[in-house]
Amino acid sequence: ASLELGPYSHFMQKEIHEQPKALSDTIDAVLGAGFSPAVFGDDSGRLAAAEGVKILACGTSYYAGLTAKYWIEAIAGLPCSVEVASEYRYRDAYVNPAHLIVTLSQSGETLDTMEALKRARELGHRTALSICNVSESAIPRASDLVFYTRAGAEIGVASTKAFTTQLVALFTLAITLGKQRGRVDAEAEAGYLEALRYLPGSVQHALNLEPQISSWAQAFASKQHALFLGRGVHYPIALEGALKLKEITYIHAEAYPAGELKHGPLALVDSDMPVVVIAPKDTLLEKVKSNMQEVRARGGELFVFADLDSQFSDSDCVHVIRTPRHVGILSPIVHTIPVQLLAYHVALAKGTDVDKPRNLAKSVTVE
Ligand code: G6P
Repeated sequence: ASLELGPYSHFMQKEIHEQPKALSDTIDAVLGAGFSPAVFGDDSGRLAAAEGVKILACGTSYYAGLTAKYWIEAIAGLPCSVEVASEYRYRDAYVNPAHLIVTLSQSGETLDTMEALKRARELGHRTALSICNVSESAIPRASDLVFYTRAGAEIGVASTKAFTTQLVALFTLAITLGKQRGRVDAEAEAGYLEALRYLPGSVQHALNLEPQISSWAQAFASKQHALFLGRGVHYPIALEGALKLKEITYIHAEAYPAGELKHGPLALVDSDMPVVVIAPKDTLLEKVKSNMQEVRARGGELFVFADLDSQFSDSDCVHVIRTPRHVGILSPIVHTIPVQLLAYHVALAKGTDVDKPRNLAKSVTVE
C-alpha cells in the first residue's frame, strides 16, 4: 500500500489531493464536446424532452444532488427535486413521466439507489441518466444515459474526489438543459466553459491551504459537537463538511442553512460548540455575517472559510482562512476542499482510522 500512497499518509488524503487531476480529466470530456447532450450519450432528444429533474442518491452523492438543484433551477429553469434513495423507493411519489431521473453513485452498486431507479421506472419515468464513477457497474447498465466521472479509483470510505467530479457532471447537465431551453446564450456558455477551465487551478489553490487548516484541528479534536453553516448553494457543502467530520472523526456534526440558526440550533451554541462557516462573497454574504454575529453573541467560536472579497478579519474567537477569489458559480466545488481537509486533519489529531471508519462501508450493496 505504501507504494500506491506515494507521499501521502492515507488514501483519503491522496484522493483529496488528486482532485485537480480528477476534475480536469472529467472536464476534458466536456471541453471536447461542449455542453451538449452527446456528453451524456443522448442522441435521441431525451434530455431535450425533460420537463423537470428528479435526483436520487445516498450519502455524499445525495449532497451533490442538493447542490445541483440550485444550478438546475437557476440555469435550466426546470423544477428539480432531490431525494434520498432509501426514502423514494418506498413511497408513492408524485410522477411526471417526462421528469428526467438522475441517479448519482460513485460505485454504481449502491442497493438503495439501484432500487430507487427501478421504482422510478415502475412509476413511469421515461428516461434515467446515471452519473457514476465505475464503468459498467449495475446502475449505469440499468440507465438510458450515462456520464462517467473520471475521478479514478476511490478507496477511502469517505468520498471526496467522486463528489467534486459529480458536481462537474451536474453543472454540465444544468448548462446543457439550459442551452436546450434557450436560457444560455453563446456568451453565457463561453463564461461557463471558462469557469470549468479555471476550476482545477482554484482547487489546487484551496489544497495549498492545508497547513492552515491543519492548525485548526486541535480545536476540534477535543470537542463533542460541531455546527456547519452555509447559505444558498453553499448549504449543501456545509452538509457535506458535517458528514465528513462525522464519518471519520466520530464528532457529532450538524449542518444548517445559516438563516435557520434562530429556529433551533442557536440554543446549542456555547464555547464548546465550534461553528464552521462557509462564507465566500456572494449575494448572501451580508446575511451570513449577521448570522455569525448571532453565534458570537452566545460565546460561540467561529471558524470561517471566506475569500478575500468577504472582508473578514481574525479576532479572538473568529478564525478566518482565506479561500481562492473570484470563483463564481463553481464556488461550492472549491469550498468543498477545505471542509474535506478539516475533517481529515481532525481525524489525524484524534487518531481514528481515516480510510476505514468504524461501522461504515465503501459501497453498501445490502439494505
Ligand atoms: C457509502 C459510502 C459513502 C457514499 C455512499 C453512497 O455510505 O461510505 O461515502 O457516499 O455509500 O455511495 P455511492 O457509491 O452510491 O455514491
